[in-house]
Amino acid sequence: AAGASLSPQPDAKLINVAHRGASGYAPEHTIASYELGRQMKADYIELDLQMTKDGVLIAMHDTTVNRTTNGTGNVKDMTIAEIKQLDAGTWFNVRNPEKAKAEYEGLKVPTLEEVFQHFGHSTHYYIETKSPNVYPGMEKELLRLIEKYKLGGPNARASKVLIQSFSPESLIMIHNMNPKLPLVQLLSTPSLGTAAAAELAAIKQYAVGVGPSFARINQDYVQQVRASGLQIHPYTVNTPENMRLALEWGVNGVFTDYPDVFHGVMKEY
Ligand code: G3P
Ligand code: CA
Repeated sequence: AAGASLSPQPDAKLINVAHRGASGYAPEHTIASYELGRQMKADYIELDLQMTKDGVLIAMHDTTVNRTTNGTGNVKDMTIAEIKQLDAGTWFNVRNPEKAKAEYEGLKVPTLEEVFQHFGHSTHYYIETKSPNVYPGMEKELLRLIEKYKLGGPNARASKVLIQSFSPESLIMIHNMNPKLPLVQLLSTPSLGTAAAAELAAIKQYAVGVGPSFARINQDYVQQVRASGLQIHPYTVNTPENMRLALEWGVNGVFTDYPDVFHGVMKEY
């Protein structure tokens, strides 16, 4: 039955998720940013996925290359060869002169496969299917690569990957293809109060946790999620004050652009 493999994990480890890598310090979704996240003791590196015209999954947040490269256009209209021409680092130096580093100039957009090849089993991956309606087939390709690099593990707890999406359809498709993969439902506007129970029960049919916007939740919500047997990893928590608040409320981890800061705060608890 749906949900049968998704037992509650009350003893779930507290996790530190490097959001787009250590993106507070280095250009998001580059190997450099992911490397820094791992060095800062993040348990997971977070990846957003887009897919090229020729079907290659790449790590990028937006559907266009405009914000995070020196190019313009939709990822879906570009080949991987075209994507590989782009500079994915210089924009960061221009926008953050106090954090700029010469080594960020000319960094490339990584493919998901390159990230798996680079890090192997040395980290965990918290992977988001972005705009899955724009990219039919992205889930199948994601599962092919997880299988190829043996990152799924024998069960949800041992998995090197967690898969997240704002799209329930995308997650349910993945759950139907491989019910052992742990999934997290992202929620930009989680239902609070009495409406929470029904939403959480529906999510529990296919996911092990929720990833709500930190700005939209409170202690009561965190307790409701925990009582439902789901895990809760709010995004994006960047100040020590909010990190402490999240931990006091009982979250199982956070997405942060500053994994070194969260690592320090975690030691207090
Ligand atoms: O995936 C968690 C968080 O990253 C969701 O927001 O827009 O940064 O992908 P976004
Ligand atoms: Ca994300």
